[in-house]
Amino acid sequence: MAEVTMTVNGKSVTKSVKGNTLMTDFLREELRLTGTHVGCDTSQCGACVIHVNGQAVKSCTMFAAEADGAEVATIEGQANADGSLSVIQAAFQEHHGLQCGFCTPGMVMSAAALLKENPKPTEAEVRDYLEGNICRCTGYHNIVKAIMAASGQDVSSIAAE
Ligand code: FES
Ligand code: FES
Repeated sequence: MAEVTMTVNGKSVTKSVKGNTLMTDFLREELRLTGTHVGCDTSQCGACVIHVNGQAVKSCTMFAAEADGAEVATIEGQANADGSLSVIQAAFQEHHGLQCGFCTPGMVMSAAALLKENPKPTEAEVRDYLEGNICRCTGYHNIVKAIMAASGQDVSSIAAE
């Protein structure tokens, strides 16, 4: 066991973890932050994307111990301080960017990382960035539309599904 300390959604957390505890399990089981989903556990689906020191990371691919000292953000920290939806979350709702919602936390976290590094991405750039996020329901069009709308761009020409 090793003691790890990290900041998760702005709060400092210190816990003892096994060396082989995955970050997904740490978030879901230890911190009860179950918004980070596990779709594959093998780095394929992107449902588990979180931010570690501002970078989008598939949390099933890292150990909790590797996040020692890090600033971590999960989907639970994305809403505004007053509890209202973030711009990206609201755009997913408005543009029907989800159906079952299983992929959505990872999609929103990837979208947030993309818009931080590229505030006005083209449709092709959005699709390229989402390459590691799989959705089995939506067909992606409305997800792309939501992210482009969240970036303040006109989405009227993007095909709706
Ligand atoms: Fe991490 Fe699928 S659960 S990529
Ligand atoms: Fe169901 Fe994406 S909304 S997997």
